[in-house]
Amino acid sequence: MPFMKSYAITVVGGAGIVGREFLKILDERDFPVGRLRLLATKRSAGSTVEFRGSSITIEEASSDSFTGEDEVVFLSASGDASRQYAPLARDRGGFVIDDSSAFRMDSGVPLVIPEVNAHALDWHRGIVSQPNCTTTPMVMALYPIHRVNPLRRIIVSTYQAVAGAGSAAVEGLRAETTAALVGRHEPSGTQKREIAFNAVPQVDVFTEDASTKEEAKMANETRKILDAPDLAVSATCVRVPTFFGHAMSVWAEFEHPVDPDEAREAIMNMPGVRVVDEPGAERYPTPLDAAGNDDVLVGRIRADSSRAGAITLWAVTDSIRKGAATNVVQIIEEADKRGLVGPSA
Ligand SMILES: NC(=O)c1ccc[n+]([C@@H]2O[C@H](COP(=O)([O-])OP(=O)(O)OC[C@H]3O[C@@H](n4cnc5c(N)ncnc54)[C@H](OP(=O)(O)O)[C@@H]3O)[C@@H](O)[C@H]2O)c1
Repeated sequence: MPFMKSYAITVVGGAGIVGREFLKILDERDFPVGRLRLLATKRSAGSTVEFRGSSITIEEASSDSFTGEDEVVFLSASGDASRQYAPLARDRGGFVIDDSSAFRMDSGVPLVIPEVNAHALDWHRGIVSQPNCTTTPMVMALYPIHRVNPLRRIIVSTYQAVAGAGSAAVEGLRAETTAALVGRHEPSGTQKREIAFNAVPQVDVFTEDASTKEEAKMANETRKILDAPDLAVSATCVRVPTFFGHAMSVWAEFEHPVDPDEAREAIMNMPGVRVVDEPGAERYPTPLDAAGNDDVLVGRIRADSSRAGAITLWAVTDSIRKGAATNVVQIIEEADKRGLVGPSA
């Protein structure tokens, strides 16, 4: 696609699993990068990352890192790092996209899935948030129905891959699996419990109502993105021993009864979503099918025999691509198209 210009980009968390995927996607989409800076902690500072034939040395991030030369700043490190750096980068003229949960529910910060609510970018004040990696696929699967027949209630259970918890968690599953196969139980400490050959119904910390923060994110972020403050959402988030690709089973009820064939048709026409749904041929998507792809894959679309008019479906997506890095690149592309990046924006 034609771009307004090339951009000076800084990535905080440039050595992380999402940061590295972000660089890969910029390259895949021929995104015009004028100058690229990668920041991390002392741990990765000094190591190098290849980008378009150049070797970029990672620098240690500090409050002095933002000098006014950045046009786009992608914060992909942690909530604490985002709270520290986002205001600094924004105040020095950067268009900041934050991958953490730090600003998602801030009423002055748009929370954007470009296929669903790109229009929210128009009121950005320098910081844009991108949703949690479980919220995005669920919203993308339900939005094509919701836009003509508003959602009333969602009940969702997730099966989340370890990549969603960062590069250390991927290594943790590898190490635990290797140990478990020879009869040793050696929890890596990257999840709340040993994760190899297990399923852990806790992603993030618990909140006061006995839900986890991940479950609250799915509910609150969905309401914000769809501008549906009264939408009822019940989520149970579970970490499973898959490496890449978050899966979820979604039950949804809308204002008016939904016919599963009409739902399938609507979902098929949603950009960024691919329907893989042929029960007769035993065709449905799995996390392995989603890994490395940008699409949200949806299958098992069917009526719920216990509640007339409700539907259930199964959705899968790669958490580090559409759940994170791809969505961020799309936000920058959309902001570029709307002339919303840079000092004149
Ligand atoms: N993984 C996913 O599927 C996913 C999806 C959606 C959102 N997110 C969010 O994306 C962010 C990055 O996650 P990740 O999965 O890429 O984690 P990761 O693989 O653990 O990478 C984190 C990166 O951030 C850097 N970092 C951490 N604290 C920092 C600080 N205070 N200052 C500067 N750099 C710092 C780390 O530096 P070192 O290399 O020096 O340790 C590393 O490069 C998190 O906010 C996460 O919640 C992740």
